[in-house]
Amino acid sequence: MYNFASGPLVWIAFIVFVGGMVYQFVTLLRSAKKDKVIYPYMSAKYGLRSLLHWLIPFATTNMRLRYETTIVTFAFHLCLILVPIFLTAHVAMVSFGWGAKWGTLSDGAADWLTILVVLAAVFFLVRRWMLPEVRFVTNPSDYLLLAIAAAPFITGFMAHKQWFDYETMVVIHMISGAVMLMAIPFTRLSHMLFFPFTRAYMGSEFGAVRHVKDW
Ligand code: HEM
Ligand code: HEM
Repeated sequence: MYNFASGPLVWIAFIVFVGGMVYQFVTLLRSAKKDKVIYPYMSAKYGLRSLLHWLIPFATTNMRLRYETTIVTFAFHLCLILVPIFLTAHVAMVSFGWGAKWGTLSDGAADWLTILVVLAAVFFLVRRWMLPEVRFVTNPSDYLLLAIAAAPFITGFMAHKQWFDYETMVVIHMISGAVMLMAIPFTRLSHMLFFPFTRAYMGSEFGAVRHVKDW
């Protein structure tokens, strides 16, 4: 099981992730053609201007109105992407297989940033229960997606700390990591791919057609 999870499963996960992202990207370009206004309205200037605003913390009115959600969202995403890439255990596995190497996080930093991701997930969960306007648009799949995103962090941390049986925990971790990667293109986690395009379109329509800001 360990050999499968640390070998073929990693390949399957990355192939499904990359293949799924390419498939969704091509589908997006094709389906955008069906809407007569999408391509004609797209503007590099207004699209990039909107993206820049939505990628800078507190640059938009909505982010300033909900400053705690803004801080948590930015911290969550930054760690979600950087921790797995710069984790010593992950870099060691890649370098063992392929010889490629890059900088790594110290053990202490990896632990704290992992805890930060888990706390951020708890924050999102509580926010869905507490705020009526968020609860109103919440359905069970939102909890499932949050669990899929948080699971590799919880299980990776538990394996690293050798809680329970190490071998079982690390295999559960590898499976949860693979599930997360494969879920990205085919669930709403695909906002990773769609975010720049939907944002660029909104920015273009608001800026070039309506002559108003979209932030
Ligand atoms: C799919 C293939 C994956 C494999 C084979 C894998 C493998 C591993 C291994 C061997 C460890 C070390 C456990 C130890 O210290 O003994 C680890 C830790 C960890 N992994 Fe993964 N992982 C994978 C995916 C992911 C993903 C997708 C994420 C997050 C998005 C992730 C996040 C973590 C975290 C947060 C830790 C522990 C950090 C700490 O030291 O506190 N892993 N992983
Ligand atoms: C790298 C590109 C990404 C961008 C630009 C992005 C952007 C966003 C934005 C704008 C939100 C809404 C936050 C809010 O309500 O204030 C969000 C939510 C979320 N993102 Fe991402 N995201 C990215 C990648 C990812 C990835 C790779 C995952 C997980 C695999 C992920 C998991 C989540 C989750 C779970 C939420 C919802 C939290 C909730 O329950 O409210 N994101 N993202």
